[in-house]
Amino acid sequence: MRTTTLVAAFVLGSAVLALPGAAAAQGTEAPTFANDVAPILYRSCVNCHRPGEIAPMSLISYRDVRPWARSIREKVETRAMPPWHIDRRLGIQSFKNDPSLTDDEIGTILAWVDAGAPQGNPADTPVPPEFAPADSWQIGDPDLVVRFPTYEVPAAGPDLFGNLFAEMGLEEDRYITAIQTRPVGDKARQVVHHALSYAVEPSADEADMSGGLFLVEYASGKLAEIYPPDSGLLLPGGSQARLSYHLHSVGEPIDADVELGINFLPAGETPKFIRYSRQLGGSQNVTTGILDIPAGEISRSDGYARFNNAARITMFQPHMHMLGIYQCIEFIYPTQPVRAETVNCAGFDYNWHMNYNYEDDVAPLIPAGTILHVSSWFDNSAANRGNVDPSNWVGNGGRTIDEMGFAWIGWHDLTDEEYEAAVAERQAARERTDDD
Ligand code: HEC
Repeated sequence: MRTTTLVAAFVLGSAVLALPGAAAAQGTEAPTFANDVAPILYRSCVNCHRPGEIAPMSLISYRDVRPWARSIREKVETRAMPPWHIDRRLGIQSFKNDPSLTDDEIGTILAWVDAGAPQGNPADTPVPPEFAPADSWQIGDPDLVVRFPTYEVPAAGPDLFGNLFAEMGLEEDRYITAIQTRPVGDKARQVVHHALSYAVEPSADEADMSGGLFLVEYASGKLAEIYPPDSGLLLPGGSQARLSYHLHSVGEPIDADVELGINFLPAGETPKFIRYSRQLGGSQNVTTGILDIPAGEISRSDGYARFNNAARITMFQPHMHMLGIYQCIEFIYPTQPVRAETVNCAGFDYNWHMNYNYEDDVAPLIPAGTILHVSSWFDNSAANRGNVDPSNWVGNGGRTIDEMGFAWIGWHDLTDEEYEAAVAERQAARERTDDD
């Protein structure tokens, strides 16, 4: 019963937000598009909502935006837009590239719509941000470009999920410093909803949907990944690339060509910090060893993983399938008495694969022997629109209609000395701020 309550509270939580901005805006002059709303849209929306991008409409000019005012009101009030599913009530809230709106910004948009969505003085509208052509390389000229086989997306049809494989042509181990996925051309970008790239053993085949070393995710509006200085991701020599794609039809047949661009450290060099990114804490029923999701209800599954070395956690990304709705990560520290801490919880929607990159000054530091506990919630009831058949028991598997429940965790190992030093440094920084 407890799990149901928690999930319900999460869903409701967004609807009953206190909105100080809305209250503040009452009595003063109504916000205008030119002065108040455009700056918010330009920061948090137009990277997806502009011509040629994946979102259904542009939100750049007043003329573009005006017809959508009601819908924008609803999507920002419920925090459905911009997509960002971290539960704001607990855990770390400071992430790199967080596009989400503050309560004040939401208040401004609500007050603006309620006042009839006035334009204000057009001359006050800020200049919209400029974007590099969406299919340009943001990582400079890549050292290696891997091109996946062309997928011909038909004019109409259901969403397409599957895998494409490509040779990488690397004999020896190399460390990746920057990586980017790029649908080639404007047309391809419209049909690629999202895509995940993995390095897999050369023998991997189509049936293997889950294995491999995660490299990078492509989702519209998302930037290339350029790892922090001194860090790199190990790409084992001889790997093949696997692209796990979600494509969708847009009314005309389109060839989806996707490339992966990679920069490396010079051959033979090892970075100071090796960046790991693994699927951890896969849900299992403790007695049966399988993921066990009863029909017709909301249920929770748990998985655990032990960190043998101290570490700095850099990234958290929940991974489930259609039934997944919510996930929490918790650390159980090897202290006496044992102490556990919920690090983050996040809502989950299979259409959005969000990864949450911790700001450097809050990235969790964990001592050797810490246990990660991942709790994944699944809604196998009829209330879940993504549910094909609520009368079915569901277990784990690679197909979209099977389930998974694990977290992608990105981290760097630390020696015990590095860990102590990092903790002390953070403590000192905190004391400095407290003194101010
Ligand atoms: C990461 C990309 C992305 C960002 C950022 C984003 N959107 Fe969206 N938006 C989408 C996509 C894709 C859809 C259509 C699918 C969906 O509704 O999930 C959409 C749908 C919408 C809709 C519903 C349109 C309809 O057909 O009813 C509204 C309204 C909206 N967005 C407003 C916003 C606003 C306002 C912001 C910024 C505060 C924003 N979005 C940020 C990608 C994005």
